[in-house]
Amino acid sequence: MQTRVFTIHSGADAKAVREVADILKNGGVVAIPTETVYGLAANALDAAAVEKIFAAKGRPQDNPLIVHVAGFDDIRALTSRVPARARELSRRFWPGPLTMVLPKANCIPDTVSGGLPTVAVRMPAHPAALAVIQAAGVPLAAPSANLSGGPSPTTAAHVLNDLDGLIDAVVDGGECAVGVESTVVSLLDEVPRLLRPGGITPGQLREVLGNLIIDPAVYADIERDQKPSSPGMKYKHYSPRARLVIVKGSLDAFREYVETHEQPGSAVLCFEEELDAFSVPCVSFGKRADAADQARQLFDALRRVDALPGVNFIFARHPETEGMGLAVYNRLLRAAAFEVITL
Ligand code: TXA
Ligand code: MG
Repeated sequence: MQTRVFTIHSGADAKAVREVADILKNGGVVAIPTETVYGLAANALDAAAVEKIFAAKGRPQDNPLIVHVAGFDDIRALTSRVPARARELSRRFWPGPLTMVLPKANCIPDTVSGGLPTVAVRMPAHPAALAVIQAAGVPLAAPSANLSGGPSPTTAAHVLNDLDGLIDAVVDGGECAVGVESTVVSLLDEVPRLLRPGGITPGQLREVLGNLIIDPAVYADIERDQKPSSPGMKYKHYSPRARLVIVKGSLDAFREYVETHEQPGSAVLCFEEELDAFSVPCVSFGKRADAADQARQLFDALRRVDALPGVNFIFARHPETEGMGLAVYNRLLRAAAFEVITL
């Protein structure tokens, strides 16, 4: 299939918004920009359309999708119960990078919920995403618009690199402002549970919620036979083709480690200030003391370091894990298949 490319920055690009909305209403799949990462969208209430998302990405069937809406009131039809805390979180963080897991309504197909009795909902902040959802007049199921297992896309070029010819269209809305996916929080139990760190930090959530449990899977490897609260966490994720290991220590210790362990095909993923410090090829994933900058750059950096000629082994610096740093570390840890060397 020929993948069409549209440019939409806001609702003012009215003709393109209408064309994209028509493709979605007719059961097509379109990659759209959000403030976090690009999403591969289809009508969330049309099981056959949602199937096409799984086919294009090669996504495991039991990994549920986030349903994107254009306003809080839209979630009433998609859920069977909306706790007061959902309203409070939406007042503070929507539109924005926060996804809430709630009990689902019957209209949500099993393909969207992965067979779970719940549904994940979010109102994105990118004006193009909001304009397209509104024009389509239906909620949009959308996982990140990458091939399953690889780094998420933060530009339309990343999407085309992975999915050209496999999807109906891509909407180019520029570079994603946040760069890592939304924070996923479950509101099913008495105490809210953080399932995936993202654009909203645990500290910001606690300001609204008071108490918050961090799910162990945020830090740890979930055994395949265990049942994680968020099915997405058990899969290989964000991985470059080359093997990646995180090496934890000072810059001097890191450099010495690289010098004694490098082989032909080695590369380094480091902070911007350190680009001149190594004899092997280096790619930066942002400024050392700026987790938001690292979040914006991480996925592009993973793609770039993996594309260096002949690279088969990547040594990565260990980011801080405070605030937005937790989301950066969570993604890098999965890209490394949980391989961390502490010096
Ligand atoms: O920022 C984002 O969230 C992006 C953009 C496109 O909105 N989307 C995204 O989707 O990251 P995806 O499919 O790559 O990640 C969705 C995550 C997965 O880890 C999945 O397991 C979890 O959300 N999830 C979805 N529905 C769930 C549910 N009902 N219960 C628990 N976890 C759920
Ligand atoms: Mg994803």
